[in-house]
Amino acid sequence: MNILITGASSGIGKELAKKYENQGHIIFAISRRKAEFENSYECDVANFEKLREIVKDITKNHQIDMVIANAGISYPHSASFMPFEEFKNTVDVNFLSIHALLENVVPQMKKNKKGKIVLISSLAGYVSSPTSLAYSASKRAINSYAEGLRNQLAPYNIKVINIKPGFIQSEMTAKNKFKMPFLLPLERGVERIEYAISKNKKEYAFPFVFASIVKLVTVLPTNLKDFILNKLNSSKI
Ligand SMILES: NC(=O)c1ccc[n+]([C@@H]2O[C@H](COP(=O)([O-])OP(=O)(O)OC[C@H]3O[C@@H](n4cnc5c(N)ncnc54)[C@H](OP(=O)(O)O)[C@@H]3O)[C@@H](O)[C@H]2O)c1
Repeated sequence: MNILITGASSGIGKELAKKYENQGHIIFAISRRKAEFENSYECDVANFEKLREIVKDITKNHQIDMVIANAGISYPHSASFMPFEEFKNTVDVNFLSIHALLENVVPQMKKNKKGKIVLISSLAGYVSSPTSLAYSASKRAINSYAEGLRNQLAPYNIKVINIKPGFIQSEMTAKNKFKMPFLLPLERGVERIEYAISKNKKEYAFPFVFASIVKLVTVLPTNLKDFILNKLNSSKI
């Protein structure tokens, strides 16, 4: 397979891409830092014009079988109202870049009547933490996008796989100063993601117990939900 992945210079993306490369697949990696893959492109995914040009060039010469929109950013948790530029950057990197990334991939996959589009969302998309508004909002936007895209592309045999991980050890979570419940080692988290991709899971939230608790919170009456979120916030989760 030819696999196009963003954010393969560290963490989940790097580990996942290495796994696929070891299985003999060809990796096309996009991130700001140079990734350790032969076809590595240095690009800030929030630079939509550059991103679209790079993907256009790649798809001119290669058929992409799977695209993994993994690049993501999380500013340090804070109870203060986020500066606009940081908010915009979070939404640009985590969400809007996905549509720019897919602009030239989707028509190619539609023509070939096959392909996989993997989106890396988060359990944070289910409930919005008061200390990471932009991140939660950007991930919830992915969930909405995935739901629509999945059904739009189903007639073309293109699978849309929305992954919603809990906490996984990476550069992103290493910055967190609070206790992260159900924190998974990187390798274990990536194993779960690879499994979900292999099974074409439409949505895959994990680890199971944490994901179940979070999903349960979403169906609670608003006042009870807010009570729990405020409790978690005061314990800095
Ligand atoms: N770790 C977790 O607990 C967890 C949980 C749920 C979801 N996720 C999601 O998983 C994805 C990967 O995160 P991670 O935990 O592996 O974090 P990470 O180690 O910080 O990796 C983030 C990756 O995204 C890339 N990236 C960030 N900003 C970028 C930009 N503007 N342009 C291009 N690439 C950019 C980084 O590359 P450069 O710095 O080289 O640009 C890096 O390769 C993210 O979408 C994150 O939201 C993580």
